[in-house]
Amino acid sequence: MTSIGIIGAGQIGAAIARQLARHGIEATISNSRGPHSLGELVTQLGPSITAGTREDAAAKDIVFVAVPWTRLTEALSGLPDFGGRIVVDTNNPLQKQPLPPIDICGRASTAVVAEMAPGARVVKAFNHHAFWNLAAEPAKEGGQRILFYASDDAWAKAQIAALIERLGFFGVDTGNIETGSRLFQPPGGPLAGHNLVKMELGA
Ligand SMILES: NC(=O)c1ccc[n+]([C@@H]2O[C@H](COP(=O)([O-])OP(=O)(O)OC[C@H]3O[C@@H](n4cnc5c(N)ncnc54)[C@H](OP(=O)(O)O)[C@@H]3O)[C@@H](O)[C@H]2O)c1
Repeated sequence: MTSIGIIGAGQIGAAIARQLARHGIEATISNSRGPHSLGELVTQLGPSITAGTREDAAAKDIVFVAVPWTRLTEALSGLPDFGGRIVVDTNNPLQKQPLPPIDICGRASTAVVAEMAPGARVVKAFNHHAFWNLAAEPAKEGGQRILFYASDDAWAKAQIAALIERLGFFGVDTGNIETGSRLFQPPGGPLAGHNLVKMELGA
């Protein structure tokens, strides 16, 4: 069975954990302060989610990274090579509210994250909704909330597409990191920030 870890237990990390918990999918969630600080959150999320260290979470098959852009280096440093495991980059190069952009010299933000995660197959996903929409029930108005994803690795993309579908979202593959991830990369990606719902024709 595929194991899942989450580095970051704030608005986005907890929203992802909530979606996993809804389906009874096991995951280890972590933050910078250690598992003892996550007791209340994991109790609230339910029995499939356990608190661990950053290293515990980073050792899983699929590792969601959900930390502020300015803390990414610290969150990913000193970890063993990912050895072909999957990192899901949920991060955006923005400061906290009111979200001024961080200059990354015009690069795709996931390309920057990939350099911090040696050996990882990196997928950009779970980054383009406000956290309250990401945490909400994916079934909406008779349709399914859309999640975009992009990667240079076809196998990793298929694993994340399957997880997105299992969680009840409608996944849309936008292609590779250089071109596809920019479409839903805030700030400026034309698909970022929209709360889109896939409706069946005739529904
Ligand atoms: N908030 C949104 O609506 C939203 C939407 C889309 C994308 N995003 C992106 O998602 C990412 C996370 O945002 P957020 O709003 O969830 O942030 P947040 O609420 O501030 O939570 C950040 C989390 O990262 C943890 N963290 C920081 N440094 C760490 C480290 N070295 N090791 C392990 N954990 C560490 C923090 O743990 P401690 O509290 O223990 O320090 C905290 O649990 C950002 O890149 C943001 O751009 C956010």
